[in-house]
Amino acid sequence: TKKAVLGPLVGAVDQGTSSTRFLVFNSKTAELLSHHQVEIKQEFPREGWVEQDPKEILQSVYECIEKTCEKLGQLNIDISNIKAIGVSNQRETTVVWDKFTGEPLYNAVVWLDLRTQSTVENLSKRIPGNNNFVKSKTGLPLSTYFSAVKLRWLLDNVRKVQKAVEENRALFGTIDSWLIWSLTGGVNGGVHCTDVTNASRTMLFNIHSLEWDKELCEFFGIPMEILPSVRSSSEIYGLMKISHSLKAGALEGVPISGCLGDQSAALVGQMCFQDGQAKNTYGTGCFLLCNTGHKCVFSEHGLLTTVAYKLGRDKPAYYALEGSVAIAGAVIRWLRDNLGIIKTSEEIEKLAKEVGTSYGCYFVPAFSGLYAPYWEPSARGIICGLTQFTNKCHIAFAALEAVCFQTREILDAMNRDCGIPLSHLQVDGGMTSNKILMQLQADILYIPVVKPSMPETTALGAAMAAGAAEGVGVWSLEPEDLSAVTMERFEPQINAEESEIRYSTWKKAVMKSMGWVT
Ligand code: G3P
Repeated sequence: TKKAVLGPLVGAVDQGTSSTRFLVFNSKTAELLSHHQVEIKQEFPREGWVEQDPKEILQSVYECIEKTCEKLGQLNIDISNIKAIGVSNQRETTVVWDKFTGEPLYNAVVWLDLRTQSTVENLSKRIPGNNNFVKSKTGLPLSTYFSAVKLRWLLDNVRKVQKAVEENRALFGTIDSWLIWSLTGGVNGGVHCTDVTNASRTMLFNIHSLEWDKELCEFFGIPMEILPSVRSSSEIYGLMKISHSLKAGALEGVPISGCLGDQSAALVGQMCFQDGQAKNTYGTGCFLLCNTGHKCVFSEHGLLTTVAYKLGRDKPAYYALEGSVAIAGAVIRWLRDNLGIIKTSEEIEKLAKEVGTSYGCYFVPAFSGLYAPYWEPSARGIICGLTQFTNKCHIAFAALEAVCFQTREILDAMNRDCGIPLSHLQVDGGMTSNKILMQLQADILYIPVVKPSMPETTALGAAMAAGAAEGVGVWSLEPEDLSAVTMERFEPQINAEESEIRYSTWKKAVMKSMGWVT
């Protein structure tokens, strides 16, 4: 049969904490043509530790590319139309590998991991000058969340890493660097780079000068030669060069030309290019980012300052204020894997719907301490307000409500920092297919919640950056060329007073979750 004739296509790898996807878009219409998704294992070797296997992550990318190409073939779409590939990824997760063998020297230490709590405490006693030393350069609080302390832990505790650094064999990277290095040839000339958005989550990057910061590297004791080169979010980093043992060789020679941390990619995919535009993505965690234009705005209410994107070598950097919540979708996975009260994540909606209320039960899923706005590593998860009447449906409902309450907390902080309250919330991410969650979110925020009909905005953002890169030029980012996005809208249905009562009880529960570990 005749192959369908289409304009240039762009592929995007979306490597999240819970799953990997590869998606292919039509660059003229932004239509999603095909995709494939694979769930990623998480290992919890000790209480508070979270690891992933970098090779499994890489393998999942190959598998998703292969399967998506197969599906395109079944649709009679010629994969030689794929002109560029973008990468978006879970941020902060830290990998160190051997540049001569391509072997990771330890598992990836995932952003949620808490093993560096004592590293953070020790470092905070030695902060040079004023307490603002790290925050003023990086926009970040000294926390277990960011890569620098994870890398410090690896240098202190893993002999293989120490030895490789001594022998000049070690490379450090977040997941984007690990993937781009591997996909551009690995030991055979792989490109060791990252982009400004991912670099801004390492706590080693100066967000004003957009360079690795020598003083920060000295403070954390990180050898600068193991760091990747920092590039813009939209430029050709290298060409796909895939080992011949893998079928994904289909995309050999295609430029990798977009790279953004997943939350930045979603901001781009939601077309939040103007100062004051914001989006909230519900993935493993939940991340509200508000574009602040060329200004680095520093929060007074527990938010982070981060690089939003820099779409081209000669283009200026945009910044964002970010409210980060560690546990959102992860609480549903926990109910599935640890408590077994659901078999698939989708079942949560059915359970919650059966009761339509938590009946006074509150669930604070502080599995990795609490992030914004509290930054409290001593917090741990609690479920409270239980009676003999409480059943799994109430707990399911409380878990969904927890995601919404946590969003309310970061939205309140954002409104205080920005001065102008958001009139509606743009949302995306896997959990937004849950209608109960979306309605609850509108009720708890008491503003409308709007979601694009095409929910894969993270991948779309990475594809846009890749397609727009100099030397590729198949995607126009001019406002008049960007296709209008169809939105679904959820209006608040309960009254503001009722919503306030629920929210203040949630805050009491949060207070109870703090101080469990010292
Ligand atoms: O900062 C962590 C974040 O990038 C993880 O995103 O989509 O895996 O929740 P996600």
